Amino acid sequence: MEKFQVIAHPLIQHKLSILRRTDTPTKAFRELVDEIAMLMGYEVLRDLPLEDVEIETPITKTVQKQIAGKKLAIVPILRAGIGMVDGLLSLVPAAKVGHIGMYRDEETLQPVEYLVKLPEDIDQRQIFVVDPMLATGGSAILAIDSLKKRGATNIKFVCLVAAPEGVKALQAAHPDVDIFTAALDEKLNEKGYIVPGLGDAGDRLFGTK
Ligand code: PRP
Ligand code: URA
Repeated sequence: MEKFQVIAHPLIQHKLSILRRTDTPTKAFRELVDEIAMLMGYEVLRDLPLEDVEIETPITKTVQKQIAGKKLAIVPILRAGIGMVDGLLSLVPAAKVGHIGMYRDEETLQPVEYLVKLPEDIDQRQIFVVDPMLATGGSAILAIDSLKKRGATNIKFVCLVAAPEGVKALQAAHPDVDIFTAALDEKLNEKGYIVPGLGDAGDRLFGTK
């Protein structure tokens, strides 16, 4: 499996174009984030281990496959990551959900952590950190630092829009973490926003601006 993957399915690209548009209202924005996260889940969860299970069809007994009950955790980076949780949970409803609260200081662009609430056995779980935006990479790096400090070893990062600067920084800080994105954009602007991007994901998701 590749360490960095752009999941460019036509449905995802189509929905992402609508998501980016300035005139897409909050309700549609929320629905699109949810749908794209779910569609990405198909690829992101490709490595889930299977085990044999004996079942009976109307015709015969047979040994088939089922998902081995490996423990998963979805960890959104607040706020915007929350929008991606339900889409993934619809595919793996038994996954636990942890939360890491983080905001970027608007002057320094440095992330500030304000909440960490994780499943107790986080060190034993396959973790999917979700956040729509990977800009400078600061938030993702600090969130993953925080998880590793608590014993997490098996971590994947899932975003919708990534800047090359953020991908590079995250790969350098956490080379063991697979990165999945729906799009790799051009660059960051002088305010640390992704270009062309979609603006402030948290504000658009929650209608706060
Ligand atoms: C956004 C976004 C990421 C972060 C990405 O959150 O959801 O968490 O910025 O930027 P970075 O890669 O440069 O760290 P923001 O700080 O705006 O907080 P919010 O989700 O609460 O609005
Ligand atoms: N955070 C966002 O929400 N959008 C960006 O473009 C960069 C960081």
